[in-house]
Amino acid sequence: MMKILAIETSCDETALALLEAEGGLRAPKIRVKKNLVSSQIAVHAPFGGVVPNLAKREHLKNLPVLFKELLPRPARYTPDIIAVTVGPGLEPALWTGINFAKELHTTHFPKAKLVGTNHLEGHLASILLTSGVRRRPLHELFPSIALLVSGGHTIILSMDSLVKWSMLGETRDDAVGEAFDKVARILNLPYPGGPEVARLATKGNPAAIPFPRPMLHDTSYDFSFSGLKTSVLYHRRDHPRASPADIAASFEEAAIDALAGKVARALREYPTHSLLLSGGVAANRALRARLAMLAKKHRILFFAPPFAYNTDNAAMIGVAGYLTSLRGKRYPLRANGTLSL
Ligand code: KG4
Ligand code: ZN
Repeated sequence: MMKILAIETSCDETALALLEAEGGLRAPKIRVKKNLVSSQIAVHAPFGGVVPNLAKREHLKNLPVLFKELLPRPARYTPDIIAVTVGPGLEPALWTGINFAKELHTTHFPKAKLVGTNHLEGHLASILLTSGVRRRPLHELFPSIALLVSGGHTIILSMDSLVKWSMLGETRDDAVGEAFDKVARILNLPYPGGPEVARLATKGNPAAIPFPRPMLHDTSYDFSFSGLKTSVLYHRRDHPRASPADIAASFEEAAIDALAGKVARALREYPTHSLLLSGGVAANRALRARLAMLAKKHRILFFAPPFAYNTDNAAMIGVAGYLTSLRGKRYPLRANGTLSL
């Protein structure tokens, strides 16, 4: 059994977690012992988005406070691994986590292995925190199609195992979470906008406005969301009396159609045992429902982690750190803002 201390500071959440992991790559079993997240929403809200240097300042302030709550008596704890996000994300923010990890290593846990971790692998690894996944032999999930949707990324992958995959496509411009956040701003909803747009959408008519379904009929597996966002902007400008709920619902429907269309094609083209959904936008109930329906139609399994593990957290970084160390893979302990999968 391995004890893991995990640190995540890639964007605007300061997060620490303690985990226990065993079973190796074939049958990993993870227990999350503690999972703490301190959100900086209130700090960034007046600016309508994340300000990198404010994020850095807040991480520096929050990390020691959160650590005290995580481990009131660090002398009694002996982690095998300290997993820390090295990218992708905001580099000033990433550095605060990396430096904190190094400091913990020197001052409290010199025997632990420092493991640089890829934030995107964290989102993929969060699938292991789903109860349905924990209950069955892991190999039954693969091959799998995975959709990773967050504020910074929109990626569709074909996975042969937890550590072997190929990317089929990704967004050519805005990430889908970013589009939700920008539409929120257009509708004057508070930051962070994704959940607000989703909430408003439940009160609107998704068929009210025929927004474009970008790239849906393109032969690649790529996405594009910047044109959709612009259509929302123009619609709002040209129809100032249009119901914001209808706009939110119609936008959400268009975004989900664009995502689900590519997933549906991947399910037809690749032999697949499961469909996996992760990242912050996986918290979107309408998207979950649509993908669950698709999976049912194809008679395959569908999994998305519990809501607590959709948006940024350190538990998923602990899981990814465990897998990274088992694979013998190494990421330099240096912030890499554009690190990819
Ligand atoms: O994974 P995450 O916490 O951070 C990144 O790695 O980017 O994802 C945050 C993104 C934000 O864009 C947020 O608006 C979006 O996830 N999000 C949602 C919902 N909850 C969070 N988007 C749509 N519907 C939601 N319910
Ligand atoms: Zn994320």
